Amino acid sequence: MKRGQFSSRLAFILAASGSAVGLGNIWGFPSKAAENGGGAFLLMYLFLAFLLAYPALMAELTLGRHGRSNMVSTLDSITSGLVQKRLGQLTGIMGVITATMILCFYSIIAGWMMAHTLASITQTLKMEKIAEWLVTFSLWRNICFSTAFISLTLLVISAGVEKGIEIWSKRLMPCLLLLLLGLIVYVLLQPGAEEGLKIFLVPDFTQLADPQLILSALGQAFFSLSLGVGTMLIYGSYIRSDENLPVAGALVTVSDTGVAVLAGMLIIPALFAAQHLGADIYTETGRLISGPDLIFHALPALFEGMGEAGALVAIAFFTLMSIAALTSSISMLEVPVSWAIETQKISRLKASIAVGVFSILISGIISYKFTSIFELVVVATTEWAQPILSLMLCLFCGWLMHRNHLLDELKQGVPDLESGLFWRIWPTYVKIFCPLLIVIILVQSFLPFS
Ligand code: PFF
Repeated sequence: MKRGQFSSRLAFILAASGSAVGLGNIWGFPSKAAENGGGAFLLMYLFLAFLLAYPALMAELTLGRHGRSNMVSTLDSITSGLVQKRLGQLTGIMGVITATMILCFYSIIAGWMMAHTLASITQTLKMEKIAEWLVTFSLWRNICFSTAFISLTLLVISAGVEKGIEIWSKRLMPCLLLLLLGLIVYVLLQPGAEEGLKIFLVPDFTQLADPQLILSALGQAFFSLSLGVGTMLIYGSYIRSDENLPVAGALVTVSDTGVAVLAGMLIIPALFAAQHLGADIYTETGRLISGPDLIFHALPALFEGMGEAGALVAIAFFTLMSIAALTSSISMLEVPVSWAIETQKISRLKASIAVGVFSILISGIISYKFTSIFELVVVATTEWAQPILSLMLCLFCGWLMHRNHLLDELKQGVPDLESGLFWRIWPTYVKIFCPLLIVIILVQSFLPFS
């Protein structure tokens, strides 16, 4: 069976940035920044994104292009001996399971975004009852919209790499950027916004050593670059051999962190503009509100206070969120689908339907037991599984992939690689420094003073 391939560097950058830029950037990052001292969190995040997440992303892309296969088969192909092989398969399977579980909880939040987009539209059409149902938390609303969202993802994925992932990334990513920039300009012109901008951009250095801030920034950096679960590995396997991987990876990192910073410049000033209109933006403990309260209460309060224009801004904002979620979920679904196609030898359509239906069921169960399971699934997959799996991938790339194979792989797109800075630093970095740093950060989160 012929494997899919991205047709150009731009196609890869847009698809991989589409995966990276998602609810994690536009909701997660500003929320965590608001919780953890604004500018200090931004600094730590930028530091970890470039010093830790970028080298780990390069490990995934290189492994993927070398293996030209899904995560399980790729790790199997670079290992030898029973123990190594079993470890490779186990890591690969855990990646496939984690990507699927992330899709299951992510689709519920993405469903809320779609419901709020429709609610803003029905509100302008004066269909108050429907709008009320759409914005009210309920089991059926959650199930309907997460099912619709997964079905949309399934439609894109079943069309394949070039006709599905590539075409839709090329269409949706420019829309996302335009909407984001338009909203920032609008919000920054509102009274009160300036104060939010200051809080976001000016760091309070005393907060930088807070272990909770560091762990939170680490989780955010790995989640935001979609690391550990094989998404970037599978996208790497669809890149052309003559592509310059270090540059492509750097462009994805820059666009992902760039959008996160832009989102911070939208959400936190919007929060203060909402305060100016009378909304309460602090919790009882004196921290800025974050999470669902921020997106579904404070921001809608701002939109309402804007009069006629507010309805349009609300539609634009929730459409932005829905698009960002879709380009990310496409990449999540591709992980189990490519695994099923390549190891179970079934067609793309059958694989997409099977994984899609399975994900709809699991996400239904999470919706049903929302209060007891949702948070657990989020923490287990993003704060633990992603950094640990990423650590494993760095170890596979650094210790088990032969240095000459690594060099040959990267040299295809960069003939003079050996004389550059990247090759002098990265192999040792990914072998020793990245795993060590991930372990230190994970362990310190257990310590009593953290
Ligand atoms: N990077 C996405 C975001 O920031 O929302 C989330 C994500 C996508 C996580 C794909 C994991 C993944 F495999």
